[in-house]
Amino acid sequence: MYYHRLGKIPPKRHTQFRQPDGSLYKEELVSSEGFSGIYSNLYHIHPPTRIKAADDPIAFGPKRIEDYSLRHIHLNTSNVTATGDDYLSARKVLLMNNDCSISICSPRKRTMDYFYKNAEGDEVLFIHDGKGTLTSQFGKLDVRQGDYIVIPRTVIYKIEFEAGPLRVLIIEAASPVETVKRYRNQLGQLLDSPYCERDIRPPHELVTDTSKGEFLIKIKKQGYLHPYRYDHSPLDLVGWDGFLWPYAFSIHDFEPITGRVHQPPPTHQTFQGRNFVICSFVPRLFDYHPLAIPAPYNHSNIDSDEVLYYAEGNFMSRRGIERGSFTLHPGGIPHGPHPGTVEKSIGAKETHELAVMIDTFHPLWPTTDALEFIDPKYPMSWTDQAEGFNEVNTP
Ligand SMILES: [Fe+2]
Repeated sequence: MYYHRLGKIPPKRHTQFRQPDGSLYKEELVSSEGFSGIYSNLYHIHPPTRIKAADDPIAFGPKRIEDYSLRHIHLNTSNVTATGDDYLSARKVLLMNNDCSISICSPRKRTMDYFYKNAEGDEVLFIHDGKGTLTSQFGKLDVRQGDYIVIPRTVIYKIEFEAGPLRVLIIEAASPVETVKRYRNQLGQLLDSPYCERDIRPPHELVTDTSKGEFLIKIKKQGYLHPYRYDHSPLDLVGWDGFLWPYAFSIHDFEPITGRVHQPPPTHQTFQGRNFVICSFVPRLFDYHPLAIPAPYNHSNIDSDEVLYYAEGNFMSRRGIERGSFTLHPGGIPHGPHPGTVEKSIGAKETHELAVMIDTFHPLWPTTDALEFIDPKYPMSWTDQAEGFNEVNTP
């Protein structure tokens, strides 16, 4: 993201940095893409390599359905209040390919008695409902409704949520999740884009836990959770600096780009990963050409699958699409506005919708966990005109 630091660090990298008892702090370089991507230097009280035990792995992962037929999919998760017991067991991966997976997570337990580390993927949490605190080796980060929380792989963390409704959309990426390249200048600074560095919230308070005991870290890698036990807290840092750290960006801080005619989805792009993008559809003025049609045109995805997660807005007047619905419009077949909605959209001045879109450049598979949410009527919903569809906004 950009350079940031918290706590104490020595003036020079890779030099002697001593604790009050005269022993050295233990430096750890956390780097992405080998040594070529962004990185941070962490300074531990204890060696990060010193473990007490590495227990047997536990299978953890979705089962994809490879022979699901080519059709539009609507997953209605609106009635779900809890998807499982805790932060990990409540993760239900619904759609996936080799580049990313898309999950919902509504845990009953609001605290974690272990730490979690995703060793193979960056995670983006979209906080649809909920509020709390993410505590990682990089410090405390406030978690608010509407936040995207971007957590680079290998960050050790736990999240505590407050009581109340809790619904999290999780996008896990096999590649680094980054701000959009065309939004940045050659040195990485965000230009006149829909958001800038001021909208990014870094960890704000370092936690230095010197306690000893038994600390469990569940490490996700290659379809398993690997339980590691340490005899010291993993939050034993006295300082860190660098570009690699978890951060928050609120969807409410995304400034929409509008125009005289319908703006294409890339104007809504928020993040990029390898072979996928994440876009934010936020409240905005509609197109202002005198003959503008606010409803989107029919659209054939030549080389992408398009997932929309409906967070807030007037899509609720559309049959079946509710707050918490997902739609997948796969590449290879066209999708577009429902019957009657194009004429109905003419003259509309603004939309209050809030939605997250994930476009993938390789096909997605539904998982066995998605089956219970599938709306069987959706693939025919452009043909059946009897029900009076009323969707105008989504792409
Ligand atoms: Fe589309």
